Amino acid sequence: MTSAVAESQPTATTVAVRAEEVTKIYGVGEASVRALNDITVEFAAGHYTAIMGPSGSGKSTLMHIMAGLDKPTAGSASIDGVALEGLGERELTRLRRDRVGFVFQAYNLLPTLSAAENVALPLPGLRVITGTGAGASPSPHVTCA
Ligand SMILES: Nc1ncnc2c1ncn2[C@@H]1O[C@H](COP(=O)(O)OP(=O)(O)O)[C@@H](O)[C@H]1O
Ligand SMILES: [Mg+2]
Repeated sequence: MTSAVAESQPTATTVAVRAEEVTKIYGVGEASVRALNDITVEFAAGHYTAIMGPSGSGKSTLMHIMAGLDKPTAGSASIDGVALEGLGERELTRLRRDRVGFVFQAYNLLPTLSAAENVALPLPGLRVITGTGAGASPSPHVTCA
């Protein structure tokens, strides 16, 4: 993906997510792939935005970097003005839990939980109880914490 793909900049004032001069190169040497080439783009809060492009053009790579799921080779990304590269793994996990909803192409659901429990898992004030000991529920269930 090159900057030309990402030139449609929103006019709204509140920026939810921003990528700045992001480059992502997978692999090394002759086998390396430049998935993103110096991308700068921002997405306004309260808007729906579609990223379109052919298969292999870097859409998923950009989404993963802007969601804090992967790190760019160069450049930076921010969510709600928080620079992701400055965060430790624990802080990044918290930010993703609290600020990011991400539907993976391959779902990545927890197979031991029901669909509802998978959805409820990251919700504040809820926790999933599992267990097989005396008094434990025969199947995991969601309860208020
Ligand atoms: N983990 C990876 N390792 C090596 N190359 C990758 C990896 N992920 C994606 N790529 C390559 O990066 C390019 C962009 O891929 P991707 O972001 O998945 O594109 P899209 O989502 O637009 O189909 C493709 O050439 C793809 O093969
Ligand atoms: Mg993809």
